[in-house]
Amino acid sequence: MSKHDCKLMLALDLPDRESALEMLNKLRGSLEWVKIGLQMYLKYGASFVREVADMGFKIFLDLKLHDIPNTVASAVKSLQGLPISMLTIHTCGGREMMMRALEAASETNKDLRLLGVTVLTSFNDEGLAETGVALPPAKQVELLAKLATDSGMKGLVCSPLEIETLRKIIPSDVILVTPGIRPAGSDTNEQKRVMTPEMAAKAGSNFIVVGRPILKAENPAQAAKDIIAELENCNG
Ligand code: C5P
Repeated sequence: MSKHDCKLMLALDLPDRESALEMLNKLRGSLEWVKIGLQMYLKYGASFVREVADMGFKIFLDLKLHDIPNTVASAVKSLQGLPISMLTIHTCGGREMMMRALEAASETNKDLRLLGVTVLTSFNDEGLAETGVALPPAKQVELLAKLATDSGMKGLVCSPLEIETLRKIIPSDVILVTPGIRPAGSDTNEQKRVMTPEMAAKAGSNFIVVGRPILKAENPAQAAKDIIAELENCNG
């Protein structure tokens, strides 16, 4: 059986288009995947996504859609023609929402993989309970992950600390995308529960999402290359 591969994704969390393009110019050839979030997408829209894709990067659009099934399906259809390879939706939108979103994606962009977001890692027990969810966050993550994969979702975003549990309860063809990664010795910033790239890859992550350790490095291209080298060691 071949071992799974774990790839690096850059979280493009920068204040404006110019600094983002400058950073991507430095990173061209050093990494393949870029995550564009709400901050950039709401400011610069589809043309910015096309610009990044035209530079040769593959795009994960992190919009975390959550609405009634018809609205989410229509939103996915609205992205038709946009060169994106991954898109996030909230699994707590429920089975019908996820199924309708998957149907819309298969009709409009065969290469698009929808990723389910379970419980945001910013929630603690009390915060989640306040929203009416009685289960502790870790159990709610498992419940939503199962619901998502039962609904046909082929990818989930999760904390690296959830990989081991999720790998036991989800089909093996479901990919796990994990932020909360810090290379050994780097600043954790406000991320509290982190893993190194090597630990996450060994635990079963398919993509690690890394922002500040690359964006704030003296030499971002070298920082990205070092992380990829660490991953390639594990990919065997
Ligand atoms: O700079 P850093 O490596 O912490 O960036 C991580 C990226 O992953 C950010 O875009 C952040 O919003 C995102 N993210 C996260 N933790 C989650 C979900 C998303 O850090 N649970």
